[in-house]
Amino acid sequence: MRLKPFGRTGVAVPAIGQGTWYMERDGRPNAVAALRAGLDLGVSHIDTAEMYGSGLVEEIVGEAIAGRRENVFLVSKVLPQHASFEGVLRACEGSLGRLRTEHLDVYLLHWRGSHPLEQTIGGFERLVRDGKIRFWGVSNFDVEDLEAALAIAGEGRMACNQVLYHLEERAIEHEVIPWCREHGVAIVGYSPFGSGRFPSATSGGGRALAEIARARRITPRQVALAFLVREDTVFAIPKSSSVEHVRENAAAGDVELSAEEVEQIVNAFPLGRQPRTLPAL
Ligand SMILES: NC(=O)c1ccc[n+]([C@@H]2O[C@H](COP(=O)([O-])OP(=O)(O)OC[C@H]3O[C@@H](n4cnc5c(N)ncnc54)[C@H](OP(=O)(O)O)[C@@H]3O)[C@@H](O)[C@H]2O)c1
Repeated sequence: MRLKPFGRTGVAVPAIGQGTWYMERDGRPNAVAALRAGLDLGVSHIDTAEMYGSGLVEEIVGEAIAGRRENVFLVSKVLPQHASFEGVLRACEGSLGRLRTEHLDVYLLHWRGSHPLEQTIGGFERLVRDGKIRFWGVSNFDVEDLEAALAIAGEGRMACNQVLYHLEERAIEHEVIPWCREHGVAIVGYSPFGSGRFPSATSGGGRALAEIARARRITPRQVALAFLVREDTVFAIPKSSSVEHVRENAAAGDVELSAEEVEQIVNAFPLGRQPRTLPAL
């Protein structure tokens, strides 16, 4: 599995990680087995949030990583309504308890809400000083929000921006990816399979993926993941509660597409105009 520098953290993280949204619906043993299979394959980046299953998913992750915490790059998120200074500290304690761990690798603001960013970032920095989190980042931040966070925190503090990124939604390529590259902020692309709406095999895009996949003896989803993580600064976190799917997704971390293949995909899934607001789920 290809490792890449995660922003300016100094940590090397696999190009492909594991999402966990709605895992509470998949049956706990399946979810735990899938996460553990991923860890066995080096898919160490696990993304969760206090929001998922109202805490149930963090408990599932806690069970999956028990006894192997040192091999996990563990990320969770605080809800915007909890993101006051004191609220961040409280929410983090809750997540640590459910995850049965002493610290998070990265703690994210799930999306920007009404609490002033100064408070949220102040809470994050306190957590770093107290050893409860190693790094902090943001999610669903457009360039304007990123500028605001940078003005408060200064360069080199924000580890990542987690944003929607899949073949049919490439809006972050307009400004968000270039901004993050310039400021050393990793991009974590969420919902890489369109959150369960992967291009059908009969669509124009689906046929283009199938053609590349056939020639390489890989699957269309592996082609899609390889495309999404083609840049050094971009990571993807597909969610799966199936061991077989986790294996398929992990193997995509070793696929490097040629310039011709990238161009074929770009043509099949046009970027489109920049939307007025950053798309999010
Ligand atoms: N920050 C945010 O606001 C935000 C928002 C959305 C998502 N996220 C994060 O990003 C993660 C991924 O996004 P997502 O869960 O929305 O959707 P996704 O990863 O795009 O798609 C997940 C769906 O694809 C299926 N799948 C996965 N691998 C497959 C494979 N190899 N073959 C066939 N089907 C496969 C899964 O089913 P199986 O489980 O059956 O494999 C599931 O139905 C989330 O879980 C979450 O951690 C963050």
